[in-house]
Amino acid sequence: MSKTCLKSIFVAFFLIAGSSAFAASPAPVKGEHGMVVTAQNLASDIGVEVLQQGGNAVDAAVAVGYALAVTYPSAGNIGGGGFMTIRFKDGATTFLDFRERAPLAATKTMYLDKDGNPIKGASLDGYLAVGVPGSVAGLDMAREKYGTLARAQLLAPAIRLAREGFVLGQGDASILAGNAKRLALDKAAAAIFLKADGAAYGMGEKLVQPDLAASLTAISEKGPDAFYKGAIADAIVKASQEKGGILAKADFEQYKVREIKPVTCSYRGYDIVSSPPPSSGGLIICEILNILEFYPIAHLGFGSADTVHFMVEAMRHAYVDRNSALGDPAFVENPVATLTDKAYAAEIRGRIDKYRAGVSKDLKPKDFAESKETTHYSIIDDAGNAVAVTYTLNGSFGAGVVAPGTGILLNNEMDDFTQKPGVPNLYGLVQGEANAIAPLKTPLSSMSPTIISKDGKPFMVIGSPGGSRIITITLEAIINVIDHGMDIQEAIDAPRIHHQWLPDTVYVENNGLSPDTLKLLAGMGYKLDVAAAGKVWGQAAGILVGGKSLGEIEKGGGARYNGAIDSRAAAGKAAGY
Ligand code: GLY
Repeated sequence: MSKTCLKSIFVAFFLIAGSSAFAASPAPVKGEHGMVVTAQNLASDIGVEVLQQGGNAVDAAVAVGYALAVTYPSAGNIGGGGFMTIRFKDGATTFLDFRERAPLAATKTMYLDKDGNPIKGASLDGYLAVGVPGSVAGLDMAREKYGTLARAQLLAPAIRLAREGFVLGQGDASILAGNAKRLALDKAAAAIFLKADGAAYGMGEKLVQPDLAASLTAISEKGPDAFYKGAIADAIVKASQEKGGILAKADFEQYKVREIKPVTCSYRGYDIVSSPPPSSGGLIICEILNILEFYPIAHLGFGSADTVHFMVEAMRHAYVDRNSALGDPAFVENPVATLTDKAYAAEIRGRIDKYRAGVSKDLKPKDFAESKETTHYSIIDDAGNAVAVTYTLNGSFGAGVVAPGTGILLNNEMDDFTQKPGVPNLYGLVQGEANAIAPLKTPLSSMSPTIISKDGKPFMVIGSPGGSRIITITLEAIINVIDHGMDIQEAIDAPRIHHQWLPDTVYVENNGLSPDTLKLLAGMGYKLDVAAAGKVWGQAAGILVGGKSLGEIEKGGGARYNGAIDSRAAAGKAAGY
């Protein structure tokens, strides 16, 4: 039998196997003029309304960013920060970094006790955990430089939802209920999200946020100065000073958004544009894709022991680089060229045993001279402008504090720094000196808002929350579409695996791999951690252009825009028109 014939049989087998395995995924949402995919349905509808009013994808992204701060308070925010990747209709790209910065009074050892050991919770709870927020400056710069509509028009829907309130759906209510105990610890947060008896507002009840409405109105009328130079900054600084934080007015006054060249690479003929440092996301996705490009992933099949083996080894090698070499580009030199170099990937492939698991402790950080509770949204407009935004408070509801009178939840992004080399953070990441704390420095992120094109045309918009797993969630959605031929919804819903160098463990979603595959992997030397039932990770939001899957795109005749919100995102929605 010829090689080509054998290959066709393989492909046919896996396409059949693949389609039956994921037939339970709902069909992607279709749109001919625009698509907005977010983790909260009201925010998705607002994005579509902005597009229908003549706004472009950046306008919609700004309105969605403010709307999520109201309707998705666990991660949507104006008290945190994030990244925006933009691909314009002419193919030009840019990246806005509006992530938090360390306060001027921050020190390298601020979360260590007198014996040099991390103080439990210090980088996670309360005002000491708060980085200087960037979302308001970032959303406003996006609108000012690349949007077309007035600030007031883009903020109006969020102000209305905060002032008049919105009825909580099941997904919204379960997020609040799951965080009620923590929110009860802060009087101002409790007054917003909890009822008099201490229970969280439930499904069918209205969440009204008058203080947040007033803060948003001030931003709408006076722009970012209302946040960084006015009464809002004063209120946050006052609360911080009273409750053990180190934020000062100067921290707010000096905050600046950075516009940076995004990271780019190619994978099997597709052009990837993603987040550069201070995110590790784009670089590590590119490094893993470069390693995987020469393995026949499509032929090995989704979820096979061989595919998982090569993916895990690529992740292991890439995450040791992430955790040791990367940091804020204003403070450290990031090995961008090396990590995106196909020759470097080939060198790593040479060190991967085809049949045995690698050992993380044998991989030393090289000397090159992240909940879950982040949120991602993907937008594309009629002209073909695409925007991918991932922004965050870091942990769920951030530091769990609201500065009295502002209605604004504050982040705990300081936990993304290395508190002490070798000590795991919230996401179990064991990191090094490149990500040490310093005044004005930005903590290393994993957020990976990514846009992929093919032959000069937009192909896919993708990203996810998930802390350190953001990178592998985004990566797996890309591989599921390009290598495994899944439609965008199937690609996002498919079970996930994750490895991050340390701990030296392959994490697998519940029912993510068959018992046979798990047995084969254990035999290769892997330590496996299968999540308990119901424990899932990530809430990816994706758009595929020209069809719901590669097969449909190649055949022609598919919908122009195909949107998919992760089935794990109970309140989310893909909205097209
Ligand atoms: N806070 C999660 C991240 O930025 O990766």
